[in-house]
Amino acid sequence: MTDTTTASAPTARPAVRDIGIIMNGVSGRMGYRQHLVRSILAIREQGGIEMPDGTKVTVTPVLVGRNELKLAEIAAEHGIENYTTDLDAALADPRWEIYADFLVTKARASALRRAIAAGKTIYTEKPTAETAEEAFEIAKLAADSGVKTGVVHDKLYLPGLQKLKRLIDSGFFGRILSVRGEFGYWVFEGDWQPAQRPSWNYRAEDGGGIIVDMFPHWNYVLENLFGHVKTVYAQAATHIPQRWDEHDEPYAATAEDAAYGIFEIDGRDGEIVAQINSSWTVRVNRDELVEFHVDGTLGSAVVGLFGAKIQHRSATPKPVWNPDLEDSHDYDADWAGIPTNDVFQNGFKQQWEEFLTSYVLGTEYEFDLLAGARGVLLAELGLRSSSEGRKIELPNLTLG
Ligand SMILES: NC(=O)c1ccc[n+]([C@@H]2O[C@H](COP(=O)([O-])OP(=O)(O)OC[C@H]3O[C@@H](n4cnc5c(N)ncnc54)[C@H](O)[C@@H]3O)[C@@H](O)[C@H]2O)c1
Repeated sequence: MTDTTTASAPTARPAVRDIGIIMNGVSGRMGYRQHLVRSILAIREQGGIEMPDGTKVTVTPVLVGRNELKLAEIAAEHGIENYTTDLDAALADPRWEIYADFLVTKARASALRRAIAAGKTIYTEKPTAETAEEAFEIAKLAADSGVKTGVVHDKLYLPGLQKLKRLIDSGFFGRILSVRGEFGYWVFEGDWQPAQRPSWNYRAEDGGGIIVDMFPHWNYVLENLFGHVKTVYAQAATHIPQRWDEHDEPYAATAEDAAYGIFEIDGRDGEIVAQINSSWTVRVNRDELVEFHVDGTLGSAVVGLFGAKIQHRSATPKPVWNPDLEDSHDYDADWAGIPTNDVFQNGFKQQWEEFLTSYVLGTEYEFDLLAGARGVLLAELGLRSSSEGRKIELPNLTLG
């Protein structure tokens, strides 16, 4: 007797499921480069994502925005069939299962509310709202509506931070004592050289400011690598009070362009102190635009976007402070590089693939709107800490 099931199996083609994604804000820096080109189109070009059972998931975007001409240009350049300026029509169409948001921060909350009301699965840039109250409210709204959500946690996917995670998981550090983060570079004022960031970033009334921009990142980096952030003390500064916008017009920079923050963390083996400087008014004198220096009882590491180096306890020099003698010791040479043993892909794309996989399989997704709300809360309390000049405790946010 012939077993037809096994006989036909080798030639059977895996089932393909196509997921329609509303992409709102693709004319922006993040929406275009990281989410459309480097993630969704890259996933399309590689033929989709393979699920654990061998079936394939492909993606089809519909571009949404306010300017039809711009959308038409992007669609034509990348061979995208669908675009519209009518968000409500896209939300009403069951072909589009996921709503993805890369708008300016100020426009996000109302768009997310509309998408949740339409029952769409949500994937969004951070910060998820302008206030912690609204971020939490939206997280609750999505949970109560049974809508799955995902929030960009891109920094966790940086090769340097993945190497750091591996070091932490291996027990390399012993008890982790402290983390020093340096993030920043010089953003031109816009007068004699155009600024390399949008001008709204420097206006508080438009949702700008480095605390709102970066503290949501620091929250998920700290909580996923080291532990829950218990307190924040931050000093915000607007070092450059006047800048020039995209039309060469001068404007008052009403938002802070630097933040000097101290965070107390509930580490696995005790308290960890993290100190992170974030600045658009610093000239780079480090290997990468962001670096984290972690000290532990058994060893230390310095990681950046890509690189990572370590110094073990057994290879630690013994400096003696003597200001009368020039120190000839080469401290850089005491560090050993961590090899790149893995193939790292674009972090935005990797997170999109994980989110889509979790969506299709119906599994829990950790980096959700509640995680996003915790990031907004850290930013809000960071700003409050700065204005009140005191350390502030972070409450535990839960949806229950
Ligand atoms: N994950 C990261 O590393 C990262 C980095 C930079 C920015 N971001 C976040 O991504 C978001 C977008 O930032 P960006 O730098 O791409 O900004 P951008 O100014 O380049 O793009 C913003 C987009 O929003 C649209 N837009 C502007 N005003 C709008 C309005 N009133 N209504 C609807 N749409 C509007 C614009 O047309 C554009 O498509 C922000 O929330 C920002 O915080 C995240």
